Amino acid sequence: MLSNVIANQKVHEQYGGVVPELASRAHQSNILPVIDQALQQAKVSKSDLSAVAITKGPGLLGSLLVGTSFAKSLSLGLEIPLIEVNHMRGHVLAHFIGIDNRANHKPTFPFLCLTVSGGHTQIVLVKSPMEMTVIGQTIDDAAGEAFDKAAKMLGLAYPGGPLVDKFAKQGDPNRFSFSVPKVDNLDYSFSGLKTQFLYFLKAELKSNDNFISLNLNDICASFQKHIVKVLLQKLEIAAKQHNIQDIAIAGGVAANSGLRNGLEKLASKNGWRTFIPEFQFCTDNAAMIAVTGYYKYLNNDFASLNLAPQPRLKLGLT
Ligand code: KG4
Ligand code: ZN
Repeated sequence: MLSNVIANQKVHEQYGGVVPELASRAHQSNILPVIDQALQQAKVSKSDLSAVAITKGPGLLGSLLVGTSFAKSLSLGLEIPLIEVNHMRGHVLAHFIGIDNRANHKPTFPFLCLTVSGGHTQIVLVKSPMEMTVIGQTIDDAAGEAFDKAAKMLGLAYPGGPLVDKFAKQGDPNRFSFSVPKVDNLDYSFSGLKTQFLYFLKAELKSNDNFISLNLNDICASFQKHIVKVLLQKLEIAAKQHNIQDIAIAGGVAANSGLRNGLEKLASKNGWRTFIPEFQFCTDNAAMIAVTGYYKYLNNDFASLNLAPQPRLKLGLT
């Protein structure tokens, strides 16, 4: 990896969430400077490039359109192949960024990856860079979404996940408890938790206007402990069912310290080897798309200029 430039979209903080149209406009104004910076940092010129990898989906249509249109132009102008990448595959393959530098610690196929982001929560059985099967997933909200929505109810800025994590570090995780939803198989559900959390806050605020400010750390710690428990319960069942000891996590929520610690505890109990990406490769980044592009390049798996973005692209097809 020679560079991994990420544009911060501060605009989301201002509105307490992602406004799709603002996101795509921000993409449009950022894409050229970001690519310029990436090339400069990498000390390569456009003519050194051998292919361009681009996210086909899932994601917001407007933002995907900016990226795919730009990548097509680059591919056409430089006469280099275009490679389409599934964003969720990118999160999983983030474990292989710079792999040559850590020969002793890389996941062995097949392994399990719990991908937890703002839009997805899935347990993936990874047989090879290209063969991935979702064996469990959320039937409603994603784990990151649950973090962000709870944070919003607490009056925290967007995205709230990292802030909940920060306050949780100083709180008592056993102070409050929430009920675990009954969901079949290896699937998850987080939408009930949102309602449960809202009613919990409402009830407490009735008797104490300052409940949130006085108990913020404990509320965050308890909420985080709950999500981590739910996530890891199913992951442990999945590992047993598939008899797999190499367990990875990925996606923005993989940056969560509670999840990282919880995973390590389970690992020592079950004899797992765990794989947790560096912080910069957990949340959305360019390198995870590039490394996926690299594997597809080796397979001569190129896209055509007819490529259309797919906001709801499923893992497994691309
Ligand atoms: O993978 P990602 O960058 O974007 C998507 O593809 O969705 O994930 C973003 C999500 C957000 O919901 C954000 O709140 C959450 O990851 N997140 C965290 C932490 N860092 C990012 N959630 C909990 N604790 C964190 N430290
Ligand atoms: Zn993502």
